[in-house]
Amino acid sequence: MTVLTPTSSTLLSARSRAVVEATAAVVAEHAEAITARFYPRMLGEHPELLRVFNLANQATGEQPRALASSVVAYAVALIDPAAPSFDHVIRRIAYKHISLGIRPEQYTIVGHHLLAAVGEVLGDAVTPEVASAWDEVYWLFATQCIALEARLYAEAGVDPAAPLRPYRVVRRIEETADVISLVLEPADGEPLPEIAPGQYVSVFVDLPKGVRQPRQYTVSSTALGNRLQITVRRVRGVNGAPDGMVSTFLHDSVDVGDVLELSAPAGDFVLETSDSPLLLASAGAGITTVLPIVEHIARTQPGRPVIVAHADRTAQDHALRETVLHVGRQLDHFTAYVWYETVGDDPRARAGYMDLNEVPLPDGVQVFTCGPLPFMRHVRTSLIERGVPAAAIRYEVFGPDLWAAQVAA
Ligand SMILES: Cc1cc2nc3c(=O)[nH]c(=O)nc-3n(C[C@H](O)[C@H](O)[C@H](O)COP(=O)(O)OP(=O)(O)OC[C@H]3O[C@@H](n4cnc5c(N)ncnc54)[C@H](O)[C@@H]3O)c2cc1C
Ligand code: HEM
Repeated sequence: MTVLTPTSSTLLSARSRAVVEATAAVVAEHAEAITARFYPRMLGEHPELLRVFNLANQATGEQPRALASSVVAYAVALIDPAAPSFDHVIRRIAYKHISLGIRPEQYTIVGHHLLAAVGEVLGDAVTPEVASAWDEVYWLFATQCIALEARLYAEAGVDPAAPLRPYRVVRRIEETADVISLVLEPADGEPLPEIAPGQYVSVFVDLPKGVRQPRQYTVSSTALGNRLQITVRRVRGVNGAPDGMVSTFLHDSVDVGDVLELSAPAGDFVLETSDSPLLLASAGAGITTVLPIVEHIARTQPGRPVIVAHADRTAQDHALRETVLHVGRQLDHFTAYVWYETVGDDPRARAGYMDLNEVPLPDGVQVFTCGPLPFMRHVRTSLIERGVPAAAIRYEVFGPDLWAAQVAA
């Protein structure tokens, strides 16, 4: 997708600009305290929003951190013409929002509670001028999100008031002890939407005690005719934390014949038109982004060189391995590398964490990486050290993206 949103130092009025320049540091310093107040305020007054917000991200504080860092980074982008481009951050947010059915009128609710929380945390420092300047920042950000979301809804043919479709589970595959795939078919008789390989859907489930929750799952195969597949790793609670709400429900309570509600496909972790060689570097559940990309290359550009590099705990935990290798054999130039923390006697695997220095890199390689954040940081750093331009490295975070605002696209 081409660029959508201008973020420039000319957007903010001169009056607000001076105030934001003078207060950005203090807001940044208190950003997490502000968002930590904002969510309980807003969710207390609008309990219906508990059905779209991820309750675990609230409990762990990841979503408040993602929101806080994005607002502060946006303000910095407004006042500093040299700040990195913000487009990728807005794209990520807008895609996440449309997968959750967020509507323009809800921005008024968020804006009201966010600015009230700023007042609660910063107290008397929030003069009317300061309040008005930050209100302007919020609405510039909101307007850009709303505009892009309207466009994405329209392109997907989705009515934001009814963003979900029913899908019936037609097959359940036990991939590993902790990973299942669900093959899903539209239950409304309509065709499958267009899905770019690498995109995800939000899956909404009704849990016990009237709790309704969405989670995002990458479409792990788009090569199934009028069906799509998601692949779900069971998340177990560690150190007293609860087991994952939705993955546990999908593993324990969903089977063939059940109907799930899914959003339209979303996300910009997708291939651009190009024939450059690809490196797909994944760890754990990140493998779900690899299969649809390899499938797509096999269908459309079998001559394009593809290297897959995957890290996992053991061979037994490595989901979709044989399927990826099978599809990879349809390519003219396909190479696979694996690393396992515990390797056993698998002659094809390397021991320990992924070390991309062992992988020869073709000129002009484009990189797609997906896995835990520390893994992706490691991949990115080691590739940049070997001369791969940052712009050639795309990543997908399986949670709120705490990295986006710090990484130039
Ligand atoms: C774009 C995207 C694509 C994704 N694709 C996939 C995919 O293809 N396959 C896949 O398996 N996953 C994928 N995910 C991750 C998925 O969306 C879920 O995050 C994952 O399944 C966990 O959800 P859950 O409801 O089971 O766990 P949650 O209930 O969300 O729990 C998450 C974590 O928070 C902890 N937690 C919860 N409450 C507390 C608390 N009170 N205190 C401390 N810790 C707590 C839990 O113990 C757990 O470790 C993707 C995510 C994104 C954003
Ligand atoms: C300018 C205003 C807004 C900003 C800056 C903003 C920012 C963000 C960010 C940074 C994320 C995390 C994206 C990611 O996954 O990486 C997010 C997710 C989300 N946003 Fe917004 N948002 C705004 C408005 C709204 C509104 C109006 C709603 C509607 C109630 C909303 C609901 C959500 C929800 C439900 C999520 C997913 C939360 C989760 O999975 O934990 N947001 N937003």
